Amino acid sequence: MPEASVVRRMFEGVAPRYDFLNHVLSLGIDRSWRRAVVHALELERDQRVLDLCCGTGDLALEMAQQARPFACDFTWNMLTRARDKSRARGIPIRVAAADALSLPFPNGVFDAATVAFGVRNLADMPAGLREIHRVLVPGGKLAILEFSHPEGWLRKPYRFYLKTLLPRLGDLLSRRGEAYRYLAESIMGFPDPDTLVHLMRDSGFDNPSYQRLTGGIVAIHRATT
Ligand SMILES: C[S@@+](CC[C@H](N)C(=O)[O-])C[C@H]1O[C@@H](n2cnc3c(N)ncnc32)[C@H](O)[C@@H]1O
Repeated sequence: MPEASVVRRMFEGVAPRYDFLNHVLSLGIDRSWRRAVVHALELERDQRVLDLCCGTGDLALEMAQQARPFACDFTWNMLTRARDKSRARGIPIRVAAADALSLPFPNGVFDAATVAFGVRNLADMPAGLREIHRVLVPGGKLAILEFSHPEGWLRKPYRFYLKTLLPRLGDLLSRRGEAYRYLAESIMGFPDPDTLVHLMRDSGFDNPSYQRLTGGIVAIHRATT
């Protein structure tokens, strides 16, 4: 598991180019993945949603039409970008600095929680899942969007992309090759969706399930409290 201080320092460094690289490296598909998360949650009007590891706020901004997102992250440079995007677009979201492993909220205050490309970076993923469970209301919903492991013909080219092309492209476009090497390694070392579903159940969640997107490059994992 990655060390929190290393993860934070890395995201402080990539923050200025984060959105640009996200859209380029995913060929723009990342936007549709986040929309799929909002769709999967079936939010009701004005529900309170905690978006953890919010980064530059794209998922929180996506759901602000229908719900009241509270976007949290522990990397200041990412968080300030989320705040600035919210102001520039006139889409109000609440933004706060918080560590996902020790949330500054009482029990049972959110109707739903989302984590997009965040749980992979947690120093203690089971502890993070238990903390999310704690702050959700009974019957609350969780949706986790994470990189996964494609099967079939896509498996080999995707591994080649991760191991060889991604770090080079990351270095070329951001001069932060080490961050994109970390990204590739953390994706390859991340558990498969069935294992994550087990972890969710062990952390107290009910009815965990998952749905693969884009040939299994990412998956949305869902559960309720
Ligand atoms: C890959 S980015 C994802 C950002 C955003 N959710 C997205 O979809 O683009 C991962 C984010 O997780 C945050 N993060 C990692 N560990 C964290 C923790 N323990 N508490 C809060 N944020 C954390 C990092 O600061 C970073 O902004």
